[in-house]
Amino acid sequence: MGEKLKLFVCTKGKHCKKQGAKKVYCAMLEQLEEMGLEDDVCLKKSECLGQCSKAPAVQVKPHNYYYGKIGPDDCEKIIKSLETPKKTKPVKKLLIKR
Ligand code: FES
Repeated sequence: MGEKLKLFVCTKGKHCKKQGAKKVYCAMLEQLEEMGLEDDVCLKKSECLGQCSKAPAVQVKPHNYYYGKIGPDDCEKIIKSLETPKKTKPVKKLLIKR
């Protein structure tokens, strides 16, 4: 078994907070529950992820990629991409390019 997937939603950083990160967190949670993945993916509220210009930001671990400018409507796509953890492919359109 590999490391458990973790999703960090920056809800505590001021930029993400202003851009509705709480709603993103709630939408992620809802989506996880809807798909029965709440035991497979660990959802966390996080401090600033250093991606403030792309707020609200989300980090996926252990893959270590970031999503930016996420809205509640994007959560379904993101969670679906995590459904088969071994084959996890990021949702390219939402990735923060580095
Ligand atoms: S405030 Fe959210 S990434 Fe910085």
